Amino acid sequence: MKRIRLLLQIILFSASSIFAGNQLIGKNVAVFYPPHYNPKPHQPSFALLQEPKAIGKISSEWKNTPSFYAKDGKSVAAIGFAKGTSLYGTGEVTGSLLRNGKTVKLWNTDNFKYMADGGKRLYQSHPWVLGVNADGTAFGVIADNTWKQQIDLSDSIRFISEGPAFRVIIIQRNSPQEVVKELASLIGKMQMPPLWALGYQQCRFSYVPDTRIKSIADTFRLKKLPCDVIWMDIDYMERFKIFTFDKTKIPDPKGVNDYLHAKGFHSVWMIDPGVKIEKDYPVYESGTAGNHWVQTADGKEFHGSVWPGPCVFPDYTRPETRSWWGGLYKDYMATGVDGVWNDMNEPSVFDGPDGTMPENNHHRGGGDLQADVHQRYHNVYGMLMVKASREGILAANPEKRPFILSRSGYLGSNRYAATWTGDNCSSEEHMQWSIPMTLNLGLSGQPFNGPDMGGFGLNATGELFGQWVAFGAFFPFVRGHATNDVNNKEPWAFGEEIENVSRTALNRRYQLLPYYYTLFHESSVNGLPVMRPLFFADAKDSTLRKEDQAFLVGDALLVIPRWAKNPALPQGIWRSFNLENNGAPTDKYQAELKLKGGSILPVGKVIQNTTEYSTDSLTLYVSLDAQGKAVGTLYEDAGDGFGYKKGEYLQTKFSAIQKGDNITLTLNSIEGKLKTKVRQIQLILISDTDTKTSKWIKSSEHQTLNVKL
Ligand code: NOJ
Repeated sequence: MKRIRLLLQIILFSASSIFAGNQLIGKNVAVFYPPHYNPKPHQPSFALLQEPKAIGKISSEWKNTPSFYAKDGKSVAAIGFAKGTSLYGTGEVTGSLLRNGKTVKLWNTDNFKYMADGGKRLYQSHPWVLGVNADGTAFGVIADNTWKQQIDLSDSIRFISEGPAFRVIIIQRNSPQEVVKELASLIGKMQMPPLWALGYQQCRFSYVPDTRIKSIADTFRLKKLPCDVIWMDIDYMERFKIFTFDKTKIPDPKGVNDYLHAKGFHSVWMIDPGVKIEKDYPVYESGTAGNHWVQTADGKEFHGSVWPGPCVFPDYTRPETRSWWGGLYKDYMATGVDGVWNDMNEPSVFDGPDGTMPENNHHRGGGDLQADVHQRYHNVYGMLMVKASREGILAANPEKRPFILSRSGYLGSNRYAATWTGDNCSSEEHMQWSIPMTLNLGLSGQPFNGPDMGGFGLNATGELFGQWVAFGAFFPFVRGHATNDVNNKEPWAFGEEIENVSRTALNRRYQLLPYYYTLFHESSVNGLPVMRPLFFADAKDSTLRKEDQAFLVGDALLVIPRWAKNPALPQGIWRSFNLENNGAPTDKYQAELKLKGGSILPVGKVIQNTTEYSTDSLTLYVSLDAQGKAVGTLYEDAGDGFGYKKGEYLQTKFSAIQKGDNITLTLNSIEGKLKTKVRQIQLILISDTDTKTSKWIKSSEHQTLNVKL
């Protein structure tokens, strides 16, 4: 026995010495190992899609080399940077977009109103920093480390971990965009979501009973407020037992889903990880029979309280547990559930130390995952949960694109789920933070995210809701939510004025869906965020580095909230425009919109939900560049399913050139096997002085049209 152990130690030691070599693993991407690196407590990586392969030596010109050392019993990797470097990323963080001087703790925490620890740790962990050098070139650093750690950006970039020494991956590129794209190719990209998930979503803790769900849905249609999704929070369950429905409140779950579907809605229902300890409750019984629960340090079942009272928690490090968990979705999805909301998955444990389970709890692992303590797996508990959920949901509905919203996450969770920024509150500060929070998550590889619009905790005023919806409607994920002891926060809850404000803002979102869907597709291909910081417009312009009131959607659309004070705007041609009959803004809340010179924005009609979505008639907003030219693209597919992976999509390029009073517009299908379309097209030329609108004209692809304005 002793000899075997010795032999194993020798093998391990030599494995660690093999890993000791720093190597290039891609063009200007390098991995750096600390001395005596031991892969066992770190690999396989959770962030990286695959184990990096060495392709050569790191050149002596390489900047941003890390130094590794131990301090106060902690493992540190420190990376220096030159003066004038701006830092971003670090995942889900409160406060400003620019991260220089900040500290963030990576320890996923249920943090109601962001109050614990001064908001320095939230629900997710992204050991990732993006650096933009003074000259606009950029770099990014991944600490390949799931253990409890801090990112300290006070003088250098320091990852300070309570776990064993870890490796670091550094990307160098000519622009921040190229760094974010490389990050996405290392950690994986968001899968294309269903189109309906890009619409407006209405949530509350909780819409019950079934009559309330129906009346919320009916009110949207009655008031002509566009909406795609109604969300069901925990009260739909029988005493908070997951995968059950309370018969007194929701006697016929399928009937509720059918009702919603008939009115053009989709439904998202909540599933938490905690399983109520209760005899004869099938989830508890089958999980116990399968030995699926996380254990204490001495190998007993771990018990902790969440909503249902004492619970057990699936050990998602075990492949058997993940497939058991995935299997639970089969009958559940058969009731017509469209999307799943995985909440409380830090995991939140009300009576556990620091609101979670003990750090020395035992995960048994399996497959390629080692058995280890909770401290190692805590930050990826939610990620493993949504991986299992996604597989189960896909197995239940193989023809549909899964939609999962997860509260907890880790660098790379974007592969499995969208996210939101947890329990914010209805305050001006949280409203303003929602912009940099969404931007930094996007810069950390999670493009599909957004806040609880209007705020979750505290009562909201109509003024706050109006301000928030007017720019929040432009976020990648647009959902209104409210906790259970605050005022109603649906768009109509604040009176007629704010209802009208909300309608205009949501109409704008729906009009822009052709553009958003195109951007989501782009993000799923190259990893660029949908919502982008203003410095993306010109990384060399130092005045844009701090701007986090205004933001970009894609490259062409600039959104300036009405409350923004002296936002720093990019140089060049950016023309203000409206989506409402080319007139002045309809109210004092709506965000100011600007279209970049050289761009064509594909805009659809006002619709009430995505079942009405069509690209058969499009308005093309054109803002010419200094040469009198503009381009734009449109991506289309079935909006759900996986046909697009087999080429069933269409990508069209629009090009416009001004010739005297005319615009020559060319439409070219550039990719995809879907049939080219005959469409009705209208062109709106935005100039510095006015807008000119063409008549509707019939067009097909590969056609050049002369449009008289
Ligand atoms: C916590 C979540 O963050 C919140 O959105 C939800 O409403 C409550 N849990 C109740 O499920």
